[in-house]
Amino acid sequence: MIGYHEPVLSDEVLEYLSPEGDQFFLDGTVGGGGHTRAILDACATCRVLAVDRDPQAIAEAKEALAPVRDRVRFLQVRFDEAPHDIEVKDQGLDGALLDLGVSSHQLDDDDRGFAFRHGVALDMRMNEAEALDARIFLNEAEEDELVRVFRDYGEEPKARRLAREVVKRRATESFETSDQLVAALSVVLNRPPSQQDKARIFQAVRIAVNAELESLERGLPAIREALKGGGVLVVIAYHSLEDRVIKHAFREWSRSCVCPPELPMCVCRGKALGETLTRKPIRPSAAEVERNPRARSALLRVWRRVA
Ligand SMILES: C[S@@+](CC[C@H](N)C(=O)[O-])C[C@H]1O[C@@H](n2cnc3c(N)ncnc32)[C@H](O)[C@@H]1O
Repeated sequence: MIGYHEPVLSDEVLEYLSPEGDQFFLDGTVGGGGHTRAILDACATCRVLAVDRDPQAIAEAKEALAPVRDRVRFLQVRFDEAPHDIEVKDQGLDGALLDLGVSSHQLDDDDRGFAFRHGVALDMRMNEAEALDARIFLNEAEEDELVRVFRDYGEEPKARRLAREVVKRRATESFETSDQLVAALSVVLNRPPSQQDKARIFQAVRIAVNAELESLERGLPAIREALKGGGVLVVIAYHSLEDRVIKHAFREWSRSCVCPPELPMCVCRGKALGETLTRKPIRPSAAEVERNPRARSALLRVWRRVA
């Protein structure tokens, strides 16, 4: 598995999903299949619906999961669409996992255009059948949209100046490769950007190109509704924006009353939909980060639907 993607916080995922009997799980981000394999190895009679929006990931997972093929069904969609699956609707889920972001394979394959390595053609689509790629985004987005993405998704203090620099440069030469975005960033920062600077900006563009937060915001409540009573939702985020969306959703679902404070009496659902099982996010151990540096920013949260 290490070649394609090393699964993160695998023991913790298993501990919370605790697969047993004939349970049915959703892996909404199957990637290289590492977490699905761990679930199926832990429970010889469980089944998994393995979802990924990336056709290459589905192909890889099919190969990696060949030994347990009879207990996995693959679906190439976004995870927010998975709750429409007929078996999910009929049976409900005993548990679901979302391990967000990109796989090591997506980052390492220059042809996918995610990396800020020298000379990489800008792309960043998780599903190459989709129309919007990083090149089109940088060449065509309105300046205000660029500001929003660099500021909100990239936490870039000089977001306005960077957006202006992109707009100025693309008037004479369209953005095609990673180097051009790095060059624009260098001018704005007035120094060679660090690895972290580049990572933040490239990540921001990736989040925008794939509408990642929109998928998460739609997916969380849809998957919650697909859980059986007592079913568990495990989500691993890799940056604070994603984690904030998850934290707020879990908090809101765990409150018994969500009426505005000025109302004299409760007129809402009046009961919690479930409970958050992780007061604080779980982080990987130092040993895991040493073994797999890409685990370092992982934040795992768990919520359980009321029985
Ligand atoms: C961190 S990797 C998952 C790795 C996987 N858990 C494993 O063990 O190999 C994230 C995967 O989620 C997919 N992905 C990201 N956002 C998605 C979405 N909204 N819907 C479906 N798949 C998504 C990516 O294409 C990528 O393959």
